[in-house]
Amino acid sequence: MSKSIVIIGGHGRVALRLARLLSPAHRITSVIRSESEDQAKDIVDAGATPVILSLEEASSEDYTKLFTEKSADFVVFAAGSGFRAPEERVKKVEYEGCIKIFDAIERVEESKRPRLAVVSALDIRSPDKIPEHYNDEDKKQSERVRQLMPNYIHWRYEADKNLVARTAFKWTILRPGGLTDQPGVEKLSLGKAHLSVLTSRDDLAQLLATVLDRPDAAGFAIDTVGGEIPIPESLDAYIERGETDWIG
Ligand SMILES: NC(=O)c1ccc[n+]([C@@H]2O[C@H](COP(=O)([O-])OP(=O)(O)OC[C@H]3O[C@@H](n4cnc5c(N)ncnc54)[C@H](OP(=O)(O)O)[C@@H]3O)[C@@H](O)[C@H]2O)c1
Repeated sequence: MSKSIVIIGGHGRVALRLARLLSPAHRITSVIRSESEDQAKDIVDAGATPVILSLEEASSEDYTKLFTEKSADFVVFAAGSGFRAPEERVKKVEYEGCIKIFDAIERVEESKRPRLAVVSALDIRSPDKIPEHYNDEDKKQSERVRQLMPNYIHWRYEADKNLVARTAFKWTILRPGGLTDQPGVEKLSLGKAHLSVLTSRDDLAQLLATVLDRPDAAGFAIDTVGGEIPIPESLDAYIERGETDWIG
């Protein structure tokens, strides 16, 4: 059945791939942060409808209004502050922007609340707790990345921690490794990932599209890296195992 999907960060590289995959079967609204004819054209070409609502400027109530007007079934948070952004902007997009979206969903009438999928990242966790499956290379890489982008790691952790505590709506967190523009192979490895394994944006978008039809993926924070298993099977096996990758 055709669903209404709202993508926050709608001109992002993952977001555009997702819109292309889901349209025209579903109704896609792609939210961008400012007026841009070029971005609007790309979004229309991807089969979606652009809407301007910046995570930094708009209120949480504005998003509730959007989700209600669009009768959203599924919201995807695929926005990001960018690698070199100053801390203030990282906090505004990754943390405060996320909280606006979570609160906005909670304000929608209970029977009409959309599900949410958030694109986070591998190794977002409590800094004191190292996953048991990490080898020496993972530990070194984790330290390197934490030094390279401490603000992103900190504010994404705070946002994900806030979401994991919420029970008023269904959410799923996807935690990709380094993203690449390599053509997708429609295969992934989900769960307990090693940090050097990369993730194709095509395959991440394919997983988001698969999660759309899997309400039972709710409540999981899923390590998502390149692998050998077809995406639907990989998600089935992950849900069956029932072990989230969240370490709070
Ligand atoms: N890059 C990696 O290797 C990596 C690894 C793991 C996880 N991730 C996560 O994956 C996410 C998606 O990746 P991607 O490659 O699709 O990222 P992307 O191409 O950089 O897309 C991010 C989008 O967020 C939008 N955005 C920024 N500020 C906004 C605001 N205030 N309001 C609304 N939208 C806003 C950007 O808009 P503008 O175009 O206007 O700036 C951009 O279109 C990243 O944001 C990151 O959190 C990335």
